[in-house]
Amino acid sequence: MSVLFKGGTIVNATGRYVADVFADGDKIKAIGTDLDNPADEVVNAKGLYVLPGAIDPHTHLCMPFMGTYAQDDYETGTIAAACGGVTCVVDFDLQQKGETLLEAIERKKALAEGKVAVDYSLHPAVMDPRPEVIEEVKKACQDYGTPSFKIFMVYDFRVDDATMIKLLEQTKAHGGLVQVHAENVHVIDYMNAVLEKEGKLDPYYHAVSRPNLAEEEAIYRASKMVEMSGSRIYIVHLSSKEGLWIVKQARDRGIKIYAETCPQYLLLDEERYKEPDWNGAKYVMSPPLRTKESNEALWEGLRGGDLQVVATDHCPFDFNGKKDMNGKDDYKKIPNGAPGIETLLIMIHSEGVAKGRITLEKMVDVLSCGTARMFGLKDKGEIAVGKDADIVVFDPAQKFTVTQSKLHMNVDYTPYEGFEVTGMPKAVYARGKKVSQWNGSQMEFVGEIGRGRFIKREPFQPF
Ligand code: URP
Ligand code: ZN
Ligand code: ZN
Repeated sequence: MSVLFKGGTIVNATGRYVADVFADGDKIKAIGTDLDNPADEVVNAKGLYVLPGAIDPHTHLCMPFMGTYAQDDYETGTIAAACGGVTCVVDFDLQQKGETLLEAIERKKALAEGKVAVDYSLHPAVMDPRPEVIEEVKKACQDYGTPSFKIFMVYDFRVDDATMIKLLEQTKAHGGLVQVHAENVHVIDYMNAVLEKEGKLDPYYHAVSRPNLAEEEAIYRASKMVEMSGSRIYIVHLSSKEGLWIVKQARDRGIKIYAETCPQYLLLDEERYKEPDWNGAKYVMSPPLRTKESNEALWEGLRGGDLQVVATDHCPFDFNGKKDMNGKDDYKKIPNGAPGIETLLIMIHSEGVAKGRITLEKMVDVLSCGTARMFGLKDKGEIAVGKDADIVVFDPAQKFTVTQSKLHMNVDYTPYEGFEVTGMPKAVYARGKKVSQWNGSQMEFVGEIGRGRFIKREPFQPF
């Protein structure tokens, strides 16, 4: 299968220019003006952007969590990804008690086998840090193709600080990257007890129970362990102005600390928890939504390069049936998480680029090029000869009103219901094959389930 994209504006992190792109099989084979390679399909891309497919490095597909499961499996989750212009996902793989990291990887790969519509990889999450598991980091970095490791400073399955230091040392030695969910569990436990005593159990108090300083303190502590070990770290779903400030200060002192934020922390704020009819439960996620001041600080963090990646933390639970399963009378029992895999590109383009908050090149950097570099996806993230033909033909003028019924995620709501976006994919290609297209009113999936592959990633290269 070959495709010739004619006359589009190619956008990479480094700039944009008008040219033709020829893809043959999985790869981009040529870029130039007036290419006339014979092709099975010719796409008129005049007036459209030719973007590298977005990469979502923070998803929780079919993950057991808080007594239930995140609802998208590899099939529904990657169909939704394809429809949103996401052509690669890196999914979290939570190690179970007694498992090795390799066993955890094989277990999740078996779930994905034959189901994925776009390429994927895995980040093992270390939850049972036995000495032999810590030793396995070397193989995970160098043989299994999974050189990034998630740890949690919160939840029952959190690791202690000593384990964090050991993992930092191992990843430094073997080309890995620790990714951390940074919140101070003791602050949260204390706040939960106080709020419980006062009978404050509505969804709004989820935010109150997890103040900005809980994130700030945990990032500070993590940064000190990085300093001590001389390693590096990646903060997942950074949400607060204060947390970002710690990241900036540490980077200014030469500490290798990287960070991602998510569309929800850029676009939504804690007022959402006050929506009537218990609607606030839709936004119960950790860390919680913050204030508008934090939203603005995070946009500035993207512009200034202190945040390198935008990911979704896609972790969907139905509003009717899951969020209210046990949590109706107590925010602590509402499954934490929200959907977002399908709306990543359109929300960041519309609210970021179209509204002048970030440049188009910055968007491509934080959704594609920078993400590929961070996570060792060497064939992804760029429109360049030799890279995978993961391509989004994007119409920057197409309008769309975001609504759950026109999305493909396996969940009964979207946090962006009613947002009027400017800019939609016209067609999305994953390794040279069309996986979705705009049908005049919404995106439709036209790909092949099972064509996605597990991608072995390269060890981390500090930058
Ligand atoms: O609320 C969230 N973020 N749920 C998913 C698990 C996690 O902490 O990333
Ligand atoms: Zn987390
Ligand atoms: Zn997450």
